[in-house]
Amino acid sequence: MVSFNKSFILTVALAASVSALVIPRSTQENVNEDPCTVLSSLNPSEVTLDHVANCYLAIPFDSEREGSFLKDLAILYDNFYVYKDLALTTPGAPFSIPSVDILADFDEIAKREYESAYDFHHDLRLAVARLHDAHSTYIVDCFRTYTFVQPIALYAPVVDGVQSIRVFSSDTEKDLSDCEVILIDGEKPDVHLQNWADKYTAFSKDPGVRLNFALATTIFDAKTGAFQPDLGIFQSRDFLPDKPSIEYQLLCPAENDEDSPSSLTVTAEYAVVGPTDGVQFKDVASFLESCAQPLFDEEIPPEEDMIEAAIRQPHLPHVDQQQKRVQIARRADSPPAPEFEHADNVVHTELCGFYQMKEDPSVGIVHISSMDVGSKNYGPFIEGLELLASKGVTNLIIDLTNNGGGLVQFASDVVAMFFNTPSVVQGSHAGDLRESAGVLQIGKADSANTTAETHYEPAGFVSAADGAPLTGEELYGESVQYTRGERSSDYTPLVRLNWNNNLNDTTYPWSEDAAKIKILTDGRCGSACGMLTDHFVTRHGVEVYAVGGYLGQPLSMFSFAGASVLSWKEISQFHMQLNIEAPMLVQAFAGTFNIPWFEVYSNGDSIPLDYSNDRYHPTYRLDFTPDNMRNRDSLWKTVAEQAWGKVTPQ
Ligand SMILES: *[C@@H]1O[C@H](CO)[C@@H](O)[C@H](O)[C@H]1NC(C)=O
Ligand SMILES: *[C@@H]1O[C@H](CO)[C@@H](O)[C@H](O)[C@H]1NC(C)=O
Repeated sequence: MVSFNKSFILTVALAASVSALVIPRSTQENVNEDPCTVLSSLNPSEVTLDHVANCYLAIPFDSEREGSFLKDLAILYDNFYVYKDLALTTPGAPFSIPSVDILADFDEIAKREYESAYDFHHDLRLAVARLHDAHSTYIVDCFRTYTFVQPIALYAPVVDGVQSIRVFSSDTEKDLSDCEVILIDGEKPDVHLQNWADKYTAFSKDPGVRLNFALATTIFDAKTGAFQPDLGIFQSRDFLPDKPSIEYQLLCPAENDEDSPSSLTVTAEYAVVGPTDGVQFKDVASFLESCAQPLFDEEIPPEEDMIEAAIRQPHLPHVDQQQKRVQIARRADSPPAPEFEHADNVVHTELCGFYQMKEDPSVGIVHISSMDVGSKNYGPFIEGLELLASKGVTNLIIDLTNNGGGLVQFASDVVAMFFNTPSVVQGSHAGDLRESAGVLQIGKADSANTTAETHYEPAGFVSAADGAPLTGEELYGESVQYTRGERSSDYTPLVRLNWNNNLNDTTYPWSEDAAKIKILTDGRCGSACGMLTDHFVTRHGVEVYAVGGYLGQPLSMFSFAGASVLSWKEISQFHMQLNIEAPMLVQAFAGTFNIPWFEVYSNGDSIPLDYSNDRYHPTYRLDFTPDNMRNRDSLWKTVAEQAWGKVTPQ
């Protein structure tokens, strides 16, 4: 029986927030004082949410400046966003997404009256987030100067066949770990979290994966090869929360047999982390200056890196530098990683860990935390695999949890290391470009200019059918019309990105045998990670275990799946390189405004992978538990047992 008679209010002490005093906006000490001056003069430990809000919201909205920026943003999406039409469609399970007409949404925002530039950009960010595609990014750097961190990290484990929202870890006086969350701000926790994740989690079209992104997890630690707690984006957000605290109603486990579980209410205030390194301001005027885009400070990548750079895909925004600082600060005093109970940590590199099951040494695990492995760095990856093979590993689990993508070439090459891949046609995804006026302008100019190198250059592509080189006329002179979301547009013929699979001829005990390879994912597998998974599954029949999401519900194997991404800045650089008139101005605000420019198709499919929901279903579903969420080796053990039989102690 559940008893609520021990209710009490717990005061939450925040390590990072010395002063929890909240100054209401209307009764600020001195109404005449510039709120950004107030903010800039505080010690970081004194900064509250309201200090930041007062400054952000004081940045005035300038209808001319913001209007012109939005007009150019719309030109960017109209011309270069490859899914303009597909975003109107609403594929079925495991997806749940609204139909989005992004240009109509921009038009709506253009008509609204704003007082602050922050509110304007926040609305645009949310409009872009509704696409649920992490390749489409809207980030204005100056409004990410601070991060707001909750002291309570949540997860959604299944215990005795029942799923609940629980505290994963807490930065509070009393350890609240594994208290059950009964209410969040008066709402059922799953409803509250899902609504929140649907609004703010752009990364996946699947609500279960969005939930995984919102909640806490553990991530690979390159220093130790162990897995460390990491906050989900519900706990750590880079935009203004709408109020200074969250109220949690918790039910905590009894401390001994005589006691009953205790119910408590926790008012959890945000700690403010920041400002970001290098951000300098002393008042509203200089804050606004810090928002402006410094013109082209970055070098154009040298020619030999062009192909790899062309197909580089973004990392999940939540593992960016700012966030890393938060995580590292929070873990500075945590004890060294303990040994795994069920696995030996064989060797680890910056991005990958190699492990062997203790109870069954025929099972090895490779965790790949990022696909950002250039071909020059394949050596340590291949050595790790060879070491596992030399220790008797014959069955391999590829752990792709929390892998935000990287290089498409690495995705193809990993598959080609295990399965014979004679050519680019067998080893890559077919794809195409939407032939807007803007794409044709760059494509044709680059076809005519032998020295310029842009992502639209015909030499960067080969024919999808036979891998033969393409002329500009073949790529941009012939088009195919597709009707998507009841709208018709022209696309290029099917092509592939041009590269050679140039791998050494290594054979592993698990080579050419899908039964000896299993993939583990939490759906937080983006971009090149999704393409790797799709190659393994669709072309080679490898089975996938997907963990997390909702009990009994489907869960996607990967999140933002294929495609390749370009920034507004890169597209502007193409116009400059080619000496052509740009349809839009260069971006006015410093930040990241990315669009997917190239869409890919799973083998034999007619819908681009990003929208092809049937290709997302994993072979098996697993649930998080209090044990396997904290101990990755328990999760590996479950996969090993289910895949290759009961693992018995030696
Ligand atoms: C292939 O082997 C050569 C010689 O051992 C080595 O230098 C090179 O890095 C290897 N390439 C890859 C992709 O592993
Ligand atoms: C061709 O591209 C190069 C390199 O970007 C540029 O310097 C040159 O002016 C371009 N040629 C023409 C005719 O536009």
